[in-house]
Amino acid sequence: MQDIDIDDLAYVHISKGLDDVVVKETVLSYIDGENGRLFYVGYPIEELVEHSTYEEVCFLLLHGRLPKKDELESFTDLMKSERELPKELVAILSKIPRNSNLMDVLKFGIDYLAICDEELQSKGRVDNIVTAAKIISKSSTIVAYAFRYSEGLEIVRPSQELSHAANFLYMVTGVKPDSLSSKIMDVAFILHAEHELPASSMAALVIASTLSDLYSAISGGVGALKGPLHGGANEKALEMILSIGSPENVEGYVKQVLASKGRIMGFGHRVYKSYDPRAAIFRRYLESLSQQRGDRSFLDITKKLEEVVRRELAGKPIFPNIDLYSGAVFHMLGLSKRVFTPLFAAARTVGWAAHVLEYWRDNRLIRPRATYVGPPMRRYIPVHQR
Ligand code: ACO
Repeated sequence: MQDIDIDDLAYVHISKGLDDVVVKETVLSYIDGENGRLFYVGYPIEELVEHSTYEEVCFLLLHGRLPKKDELESFTDLMKSERELPKELVAILSKIPRNSNLMDVLKFGIDYLAICDEELQSKGRVDNIVTAAKIISKSSTIVAYAFRYSEGLEIVRPSQELSHAANFLYMVTGVKPDSLSSKIMDVAFILHAEHELPASSMAALVIASTLSDLYSAISGGVGALKGPLHGGANEKALEMILSIGSPENVEGYVKQVLASKGRIMGFGHRVYKSYDPRAAIFRRYLESLSQQRGDRSFLDITKKLEEVVRRELAGKPIFPNIDLYSGAVFHMLGLSKRVFTPLFAAARTVGWAAHVLEYWRDNRLIRPRATYVGPPMRRYIPVHQR
């Protein structure tokens, strides 16, 4: 009998974490980490935030171009018409336990939608875009219903008068948002819509590459985003700001964390080695919100944090990231920490769908290899002889 024949794979370089491995070309987004810039399909994120809407950005990502006026109207109508959930799903959501992890509920909800889709496997690109709009639209409702039921609150049915993002805020808080809050929510959805190929988008691609369906790919994306190394940092940043309590405590807090080799939440990024452009945008809206509410407490603490961290870590490319400001903004808008990561997921459904559709244009099964480092071949020993 021959020994295990270990081939050349035993000696190949292992790209731990797939660092610097490029798996596809994309037109969806470009991150210029050195200069702190982000583009969706070539458009600077700042311009989209200022002039566009989440609905239009969804169209842009799914079709690869901006819509004409009538196309935008019909896409917006399609998304609106998909806000409500199947009544059987609502009944199940009404029974989820208190304090359930809403990312698990979102995964479940998306999988339930797959069960209800009779044409799951046989879709072309056009039908898949309609399916994507359905998943994007219903994901926000799943999160909102799950949140309210699990808090013992009555659900708030979707409003047809509000934008997608403003409607999410309304369904979660039960309060019709004013124009500034609606705008900020829309900005938040745009800023979380797409970000090249983080772990969650890669997870969606791996699933899609087997020619599984869009629901499974997006549900997989939610599962990957759930992990604390991906989603969830804004929750931690908010907890940090709340525990610091006032700008006078910032200096002592930062010095103590750095002395114990800890990390300041909301700072640093794997790709951005300068100011995260999304953080700069959120900071501006935190300023507007603080002015409107006459409450500068979060703004003053975060500004002081920036100043002290930049001074203490001078020489290292550690700048504020999106999570420093988004948690504070969401908190001021009345959102519970429980919905922070699910909000991110609901907004990112479009990015996952767009990557999948892009990958399917020239699909190849993703099947990496592992280097075998186990024992050489050995004989099986029956259990009574071991
Ligand atoms: N606070 C203090 N020091 C930091 C921080 C931070 N937030 N981030 C990085 N550093 C330091 C490291 O200690 C390290 O120092 P050293 O060279 O003296 O050992 C140096 O900067 C480089 O750190 P790395 O971990 O190699 O940087 P990397 O690019 O891998 O890390 C990460 C990126 C994981 C986001 C990191 O900056 C971090 O942990 N930040 C805090 C958590 C956070 O805000 N996460 C949200 C990221 S944004 C997002 O996911 C949407």
